[in-house]
Amino acid sequence: MNSTKRYLITAALPYANGLKHIGHLAGAYLPADIYVRYLRAQQREVLFVCGSDEHGTAIPIQAKKEGTTAQAIIDKYHPIIRQNFQDLLISFDIYHRTSAPIHHETASQFFKDLNDKGDLEVKESEQYYDEQAQTFLADRFIQGTCPNCGFPQAFGDQCEKCGTSLSPEQLINPVSTLSGHKPVKKATKHWYLPLDKHEAWLREWILGDHKDDWKGNVLGQCKSWLDGGLQPRAVTRDLDWGVKVPVEGAEGKVLYVWFDAPIGYISATKQYCKDHGMNADILWNDKDTKLVHFIGKDNIVFHCIIFPVMLKLHNNILPDNVPANEFVNLEGDKMSTSRNWKLEMQDYIDDFINKENGGPAMADVLRYYLTTILPENKDSEFTWKGFQDANNSELVAIFGNFVNRSFVLMHKLCNGKVPPLHATRLDAKDEQLIKDIEDAKIKIEQAIEHYKFREALFEVIDLARKGNRYMQEKEPWILAKSLESNPLNQQLIDNCLHLCLQLTANLAIFIHPFLPHTAKTLCHMMKVVDKMLEWKNGGRIKLLSVGYSLRAPELLFRKIEDSEIATQLDKLKAGARAAEEAKAKTAALLAGGKPDAAPEKADQDSPKAEIQFDDFAKIDLRVGTIKSAERIPKADKLLKLEVDMGSEVRTICSGIAAYFSPEAIIGKQVTVVANLAPRKMRGIVSNGMILMSEDQNGQLVFVNPDQAVPNGKTVN
Ligand code: 2FM
Ligand code: ZN
Repeated sequence: MNSTKRYLITAALPYANGLKHIGHLAGAYLPADIYVRYLRAQQREVLFVCGSDEHGTAIPIQAKKEGTTAQAIIDKYHPIIRQNFQDLLISFDIYHRTSAPIHHETASQFFKDLNDKGDLEVKESEQYYDEQAQTFLADRFIQGTCPNCGFPQAFGDQCEKCGTSLSPEQLINPVSTLSGHKPVKKATKHWYLPLDKHEAWLREWILGDHKDDWKGNVLGQCKSWLDGGLQPRAVTRDLDWGVKVPVEGAEGKVLYVWFDAPIGYISATKQYCKDHGMNADILWNDKDTKLVHFIGKDNIVFHCIIFPVMLKLHNNILPDNVPANEFVNLEGDKMSTSRNWKLEMQDYIDDFINKENGGPAMADVLRYYLTTILPENKDSEFTWKGFQDANNSELVAIFGNFVNRSFVLMHKLCNGKVPPLHATRLDAKDEQLIKDIEDAKIKIEQAIEHYKFREALFEVIDLARKGNRYMQEKEPWILAKSLESNPLNQQLIDNCLHLCLQLTANLAIFIHPFLPHTAKTLCHMMKVVDKMLEWKNGGRIKLLSVGYSLRAPELLFRKIEDSEIATQLDKLKAGARAAEEAKAKTAALLAGGKPDAAPEKADQDSPKAEIQFDDFAKIDLRVGTIKSAERIPKADKLLKLEVDMGSEVRTICSGIAAYFSPEAIIGKQVTVVANLAPRKMRGIVSNGMILMSEDQNGQLVFVNPDQAVPNGKTVN
C-alpha cells in the first residue's frame, strides 16, 4: 500500500449480448466507481477500465435468438450498455470492446508469448460433438445434470443453480442444445493452461498472503477450488466467433472467451494509453501498480485463479484485491432474464432519469439505494418499497432536509452569507459536532479502503443525521425571536449556522464518491469549484470563508410517490407474466397444442383462495423415484414415466418433454400427487402427477426432498 504509485481498477467486462440489470450494477460497476471516485478525490493516480465482452458463445446464442448475426448483436448492445453506464454516472476512463483490433492483437500476442515459452500444453482429447449439427459443442451448448447439486439443466461450463464451475465432461447425461441429441465424443486438439502446476504458489498467494485482506466470500470460493485440486484448463475452443488461435494447426479454433476477456483489461489500458500518450507496459508490469478487480461472485475463479496464472506467466502484476460481490435479488426472487424478473438499467433510466422530474439526481438516488444494499457479504434484496423509503426517509428527510434548512436559515438569519464563528461562545454541542465531522472522515476513509461501501455511506448519512439533531437542539429560529431583548444571541445563531454550513461542505466531499451529481449541486449552491471536493479538505470546518455569500438552496431530491412504486411493481409483474405466457405459448406450439393454454399457467403465481386443513389433507403427496422415462410418439410435450412408489410402480405422463431429456431424469426422486384420479393421455392411463417448480431462469425443476427418502413416503 505504501509503495503504491498508481491504481489500475477494472470492472468485469459485461457480455454485449443484452441489456444489463441493476444486479450487474451493484455487483461490480457501482462499487468500483465509488472506489475510483474516492481515489481520484484523494488525488491518487488511477485508471478505471472496462468494456464489452464480445466473444464467447453468449453472443452467437443471442444472435440465434434474435435471428441475426453475432456482429449485429455486439454492435447493437455495446453502445447501449456504454450509454447506460454513462447515464448512471459510472466514470470509466475507458469503456472499450473486445472486438477492437487492438484487443485481438493483444490477446493473440499474449497467447503466442505463453505458447512460445512452453507454458501451454497441447493435447488431443475427445470432446463433445453434435453429429446432427456437425459441430463441436462449446460448453454453453451442452446441458446436463450438475454433479454437485443434481440440477438437470446445468451448462457445460457452469451450473446456474449452485454456481459451480464445470467442464462438459462432468455433466451427467449431457445433451446438445443445438439438436437436443446426445453428443458423441470426437478427437480434437486443444491448448491447455496447466493450472495444476501453479497450485502451490496460488495457495500461498491467496490463502497465505491475502488471508487477511481479501473478503471471506472470495477466499472461501478460492479455497474450495484449491482444495478440490486444479486441473489443466483448455484455453482454445472449436468455434468460429472469437480471437483466432494464432498458431499453425489451429484452424477453426478461437481463444476461450475466459482467456481473451480478462486480457480485455490490458487491451483497454493500451488503447487508453495510446490515446493519451502514455506507456501501458508500466501500468501492467510495475509492482507499484495496485490492481483491483471488481466483479460479481460468478467470476471469482477466473479472476483469482485462472487470470492470475496467465498474468504471472506473462510477467505482469497480480491483483492486489478482488472484492467480489454476491447477488442482488428483486422483490423476493432471483433476478432472471428468461423470466423477465429484473430491473434493467435502461428501464430505470427511461422511467426515472430521462423524465421531466428526473435528471442525474435520479441516477444518484439509484446509486444511493443500491449502495445501501450492496451484496458485500451475502445476497441482498432490492424492493421498490425499500427504494422509496431510502429516498423519502433518508435522502429527502435527512440529507436534503439538513442542507435545505441550513441554507434557508442562513439566508434568513445571516444575510445569505457564511456567518462568523465566535470561538468564545462555542459550547459542548458545537465541539461535539466538530469532532463528529473529524471522526466521520476517518470512518468513511477506513471503510472505503476496505471495500466496505455500505458502511461508508452509512457514516455519511449518519453525519447528516447528527447535523439535523444539532440544529434541532440549537433551534436558531427560536433564538432569532429574542434578538431584540438579547442581541448577543446572534452570535449563537452565527455559530450554529457556520457549523451547519461547514458540515454541508463536508457532506459534499463525503457524498461525492457515492452521489457525484449531488456533490456537484452542493458545490454550485456554495459557489465553490469542484476542487473543494478533494478528500484532504474533509474533516475540517474551514472550508467556507466567513462573509462568503451563498446561493439559494436547490432541491437535491424529490419525493417518490406511492403511485410511482405501484407502477413499477405492476410493470415488473406484467413483464414476468408476459414472459411466462410467451414461454407457455412456445411450449404449446412445440407440443402441437393450442397456444391459448398459456394464461392458466401464468396465473399460477397469483395467490390462491384460502383453504382449510381438511382440504389440504385430501391430497396424498408421496415421494417416488423415476425408474424409466420415454418420449411418447406424436406427443412432443409428454414423457411417459415409470415411478417407483415403494409398494408399486406407477405409470405417469408428465408434460415436461420440452425441458428434460428422458435419460437425464432417470433415478431422480420426485413428489407425486398419488391420489389424483387416473387420466388417459394419448392412449396411456396416467396415475398421478409429478410436482414441478421453476428455477430463477424459468427452467422447470422437480420438487423433491433435500435428501433421499424411501419411495412411497408421504409428504405432509
Ligand atoms: O460474466 C460476465 O459477464 C463476463 N463477461 C465477465 C468477464 S470479466 C473479464 F474477465 F473480462
Ligand atoms: Zn449445481
